[in-house]
Amino acid sequence: MATPGLAVAPATDLALSGLTKLFGTSTAVDGVTLRIRAGEMVALLGPSGCGKTTTLRMIAGLVEPTEGDVMIGGSRVTHIPVHRRNIGMLFQNYALFPHLSVAENVAFGLQMRGLRKAAIRPRVEAALALVQLGEYADRLPSALSGGQQQRVALARAIVIEPSLLLLDEPLGALDRNLRESMQVEIRQIQKRLGITAVLVTHDQEEALTMADRVVIMRDGKLEQVGTPQEIYSRPATRFVASFIGASNFLRGRVEGRSGGQSLVRLVGGGRVEIPWPGDDRKDVLISVRPEAVALAPLDEVVPGALGGTSATVQQVVYKGQATHIHLRLDDAEPFVAFLPNRQGESISQSYAVGDKVWASWSPQSNWLVADS
Ligand SMILES: Nc1ncnc2c1ncn2[C@@H]1O[C@H](COP(=O)(O)OP(=O)(O)OP(=O)(O)O)[C@@H](O)[C@H]1O
Ligand SMILES: [Mg+2]
Repeated sequence: MATPGLAVAPATDLALSGLTKLFGTSTAVDGVTLRIRAGEMVALLGPSGCGKTTTLRMIAGLVEPTEGDVMIGGSRVTHIPVHRRNIGMLFQNYALFPHLSVAENVAFGLQMRGLRKAAIRPRVEAALALVQLGEYADRLPSALSGGQQQRVALARAIVIEPSLLLLDEPLGALDRNLRESMQVEIRQIQKRLGITAVLVTHDQEEALTMADRVVIMRDGKLEQVGTPQEIYSRPATRFVASFIGASNFLRGRVEGRSGGQSLVRLVGGGRVEIPWPGDDRKDVLISVRPEAVALAPLDEVVPGALGGTSATVQQVVYKGQATHIHLRLDDAEPFVAFLPNRQGESISQSYAVGDKVWASWSPQSNWLVADS
C-alpha cells in the first residue's frame, strides 16, 4: 500500500562477506557472510557479547571492518562513511533532541540533507501518521511516554526514506506489554514500506515475532540461519536448541534403521524412533521440546513401550498457562515437561514429587542436534 508523502526508494538487498572485526587481539566478529534480500527483515540473535552490535555498526559504517565487505544494493560501501549510506537507525536510547518538538525532531534529518520546507512538511506528516503520532507534532519529547518517544525515533529513521533500516535492541527500554505491541507495529510498518531491515536483539521472542529470518550468532560467528520456524523446530546444534525456547537433551545409541527411521536406545532408559535415515553416527544427541512431552502414571504403561522413558517427578511448578514438571531420568541430564493448564484448573494437583511416571512424545518430536 502506498503511503502518501513518503516515497520509499525501491528496496535494496544487503550482502556481508567475510565481515570481521578485531578489537586489539580479540575477535568480536569472525568472518560473517550473509545475504539479506530486498524487503526482508533479518534478526541477529545471540547471547551478550557475541558480536551483534559490532556487526550492525559495520553495516551502518560506524565501525570500520578489519576484513571483509558490506554491499548495499550491489555496491561496495565498506569504506563509505555512515552519512553517505542512506541508512535509518533505531537504537535503545533514542536520544531525541529535548528542545525540539516532535515534528522538528523528525524534520531534522531532512533539513540536514538540504530539503526545502515545502518538501519537508508532507514527509514529516506522513512519517508521523505512520507511527500514529500525527496529533503530537507540536509536543516536546519530555511530554511523551517512552513508547511514544520511541515511535518518534522510528519516524525520524524512516522519514529520510532510507534504503536500509537498522534496529539495535529498539524496544529494550520498554515494559513487556508495550514491547510486544511495538514489535507488531514496527513489523507492519517495515512490511508496508517494503524496507530492508536488520534487527539486533537478545530477546528470542522479539526475533521470532518480527523477523523473516533469524540468524543465531555465537562467539562472533553465524551458528544457524533460518526462518523462525526452521530455527525453532530444526535447531542444528545444542546451543541453538537451548537458546531458542527450552529443550530437553537425551543421549542415545542407534540400534537399527529401516524405512527412513532409526531406532535409538536412550542412555537414560527407553527407546525411541526418529524420522532420520541415519548415517555412520552411532552415539547421538536428541532434542525434545518440553511442550511435546506427555506424562502418564507408570503402571498404566506396557513394559518396554516405544517412544518414551520412565522418570521420577522432582518438582512441580505452576506457571499460569502451563505447569512445568521437572523429572529425573536415569540419565544425568535434567528433563522437563510443559503440561497445559486447562481453563480454571491446574494440572499441578495431578503430580506429586516422587511419583513414577512414563514420559512419552511422538517420533516427530525427536530432533537430532550436534553436541556443540
Ligand atoms: N569499542 C570496543 N572496543 C573493544 N572491544 C569491544 C568494543 N565494542 C565491542 N567490543 C567487544 O566485542 C565483543 C562483541 O560486542 P558487541 O557489542 O558486538 O556484542 P553484542 O552481541 O551486541 O552484545 P549485547 O547483547 O551485550 O549488546 C564483546 O566482547 C565486546 O566487549
Ligand atoms: Mg549489543
